[in-house]
Amino acid sequence: MSSKIKRIGILFGQEDTFPWAFIDRVNEIGKGKIVAEPVLIDKVQQNVDYGYHVIIDRISQDIPFYRSYLKNAALQGTCVINNPFWWSADEKFFNNCLAEKIGIAVPKTVLLPSQEMPEDTSDQSFRNLKYPLDWEYIENHIGFPAYMKPYAGGGWKSVYRVDSLEDTWETLKETGRLVMMLQEEIQFEDYYRVYCLGQKYVHIMPYEPRNPHHLRYQASHQTEGKQLTKLLKRITADTIKLCTHLGYDFNTVEFAVRDGVPIAIDFCNPAPDADINSVGEENFNWIVEHAATLAVEKAKAYRKTKSNLTWGEFVRKSTQS
Ligand SMILES: Nc1ncnc2c1ncn2[C@@H]1O[C@H](COP(=O)(O)OP(=O)(O)O)[C@@H](O)[C@H]1O
Ligand SMILES: [Mg+2]
Repeated sequence: MSSKIKRIGILFGQEDTFPWAFIDRVNEIGKGKIVAEPVLIDKVQQNVDYGYHVIIDRISQDIPFYRSYLKNAALQGTCVINNPFWWSADEKFFNNCLAEKIGIAVPKTVLLPSQEMPEDTSDQSFRNLKYPLDWEYIENHIGFPAYMKPYAGGGWKSVYRVDSLEDTWETLKETGRLVMMLQEEIQFEDYYRVYCLGQKYVHIMPYEPRNPHHLRYQASHQTEGKQLTKLLKRITADTIKLCTHLGYDFNTVEFAVRDGVPIAIDFCNPAPDADINSVGEENFNWIVEHAATLAVEKAKAYRKTKSNLTWGEFVRKSTQS
């Protein structure tokens, strides 16, 4: 293969529509100079460059072997989307802390220790934790009903709505070793899911989480006219700000709109659903087109002699000075 050809790989799991459409679209745009294919691994040796200029990662959250493969690839210069180091470090509680710091509206949230002790720990391992927790404060601060969900999770797994402290304690019994967050419930008039690619391409999708799964993207919204224009402008700006600070090039941000204010609910989705059967044709076409455009841009911007990873403002600012 000519060394001038740029190679884009996609790493994926069970999904079966987005990856193939993405590959086809890159190959159309790339005209033989930039090619896309599924990543294929038959060995992983330290410090070996397997030759991808760009890799779109859709699955390493579930497969730690892949995460490690991607870190090595990044070290060799591959532009891995999303940054596997940051993704390993990130979780939803920290996301909320950072969001609040940079002026994004988020629900009031507290972190809870896991119900069961992690493997090979005992009471002694928890001497820095005061039992019981200050539940009175937590109740007053968060209020009920509230949402309880894992600090690192997705796909609505172990997401609960609880209506009292007693209910919280009862529900916690089901959560085993998961570290949970307790969060103010946002009673919303409208809800949006927003794709954000390359921290610049934004696609806002009305979403109705109360509908059955296959109808969630067929949502209407109450906000109209000038209010809607203003709201969408703020959602766009907040989405870009969040992704820029976190350092994600491929993410979705969810907002619940309460009294006209978009409140960011879930914005740690670095391998967001992009299946045509759930997001619908229009949203699918958008994500395929923009993911292909972004990957081609990153392939063109690739420089052999430098790291081609994206880091968030948070890390970049923290490492200056
Ligand atoms: N604080 C909240 N207020 C209102 N609804 C919420 C809140 N948190 C979660 N939800 C509802 O639960 C759904 C799943 O929660 P989410 O935080 O998006 O977790 P996941 O990462 O598993 O998708 C959301 O789409 C929303 O409908
Ligand atoms: Mg979600």
